Amino acid sequence: MPVRNRIAELHTEITGWRRHLHANPELMYDVHETAAFVEARLKEFGVDEITPGIGKTGVVAVIKGKSDTKGRVIGLRADMDALPIEEDTGLDYASNVPGKMHACGHDGHTAMLLGAAKYLAETRNFDGSVVLIFQPAEEGGAGGKAMCDDGMMDRWGIQEVYGMHNAPGMPVGEFATRPGGLMASSDEFEIVVTGIGGHAAEPHRAVDSTLVAAQILITLQTIVSRNIDPLKNVVLTVGTFNTDSTASNVIAHTARMEGTVRTLDGEMRGYAKERVFRIAEDTASAMGASAEVIWTPGYPVTVNTPDEAAYAVEAAKAVTDKVIGDVDPIMPSEDFAYMLEERPGAYMFLGNGDTAMCHHPQYNFDDETIPAGVSWFAEITERRMPAE
Ligand code: NI
Repeated sequence: MPVRNRIAELHTEITGWRRHLHANPELMYDVHETAAFVEARLKEFGVDEITPGIGKTGVVAVIKGKSDTKGRVIGLRADMDALPIEEDTGLDYASNVPGKMHACGHDGHTAMLLGAAKYLAETRNFDGSVVLIFQPAEEGGAGGKAMCDDGMMDRWGIQEVYGMHNAPGMPVGEFATRPGGLMASSDEFEIVVTGIGGHAAEPHRAVDSTLVAAQILITLQTIVSRNIDPLKNVVLTVGTFNTDSTASNVIAHTARMEGTVRTLDGEMRGYAKERVFRIAEDTASAMGASAEVIWTPGYPVTVNTPDEAAYAVEAAKAVTDKVIGDVDPIMPSEDFAYMLEERPGAYMFLGNGDTAMCHHPQYNFDDETIPAGVSWFAEITERRMPAE
């Protein structure tokens, strides 16, 4: 069964919402107008419950099926925030706000989930409840985590969660996902080495922090090559390296470096972190210096649970025959990962055609993908919670 007639009928209306959101972008947690727009539409649709202010400015809504005592509780999630980018599309509905732009298609994600809400509230052809999750601050603010920290999963009894992101470079309407790690975790670290500064000609009276830091830097590269299982995906890069010495005849007192660790495997993420601390601290100690490691955790690995990834693929196959169930993972990160840490679920890519890449000033969400995206949300709901 491809796109349902009713969803095809809603295409123009949903496109209108999408373009309204596109013209009025908001950043991070400051999505008050967007959340108000979402709430207003949900009220019109007659959903059963709307709760704003979850994760600061997120919105949670519930649509009950034919029977809500039977069936399951499924969460469907969209992100609402834009990016601090000056738009360069020349569209007649381009951003009204200088320096802010929907350059990642979250306008499209929000509009598609609203479209699914309208369809599901009209038809209610399922037993159980759908929890609609509209989150703020996906772009670096961990809005998904904030909603989870507010107790969202338990409060609404969510049992599974599904989300979707548009994918430039994939044909419009094509779906792709995979079981397991789909998008990487992204952590950052800083290492500050303190030795004893001194005269270049008298190294025996100093502790050369430059040499200690250089030794640490090289040894860090043994984590991926010697500690991590070769079949796991981990990348460690040191991006900056500098010392407080300002002359060729001065031994530096301190040296510092900054780097990042990305991986598709949650276990390897913890292991790599442990190795970074061990190598920095123990190498410095062995050489008579000290090292302080400052670890800044970013988003976790986005991990699709196998069963739910299979349901997501099955739902996509009901919409189109263009479905890839074993797509290669990608190394950007995504804060839907926090929801997947709390509940089984799956994240899906939906082709956006041959457009500029996400986060580019000429990027635009392709409205032709709307029927496929809305249908996927509807199919997931009706297939996971069929009405008796
Ligand atoms: Ni995005």
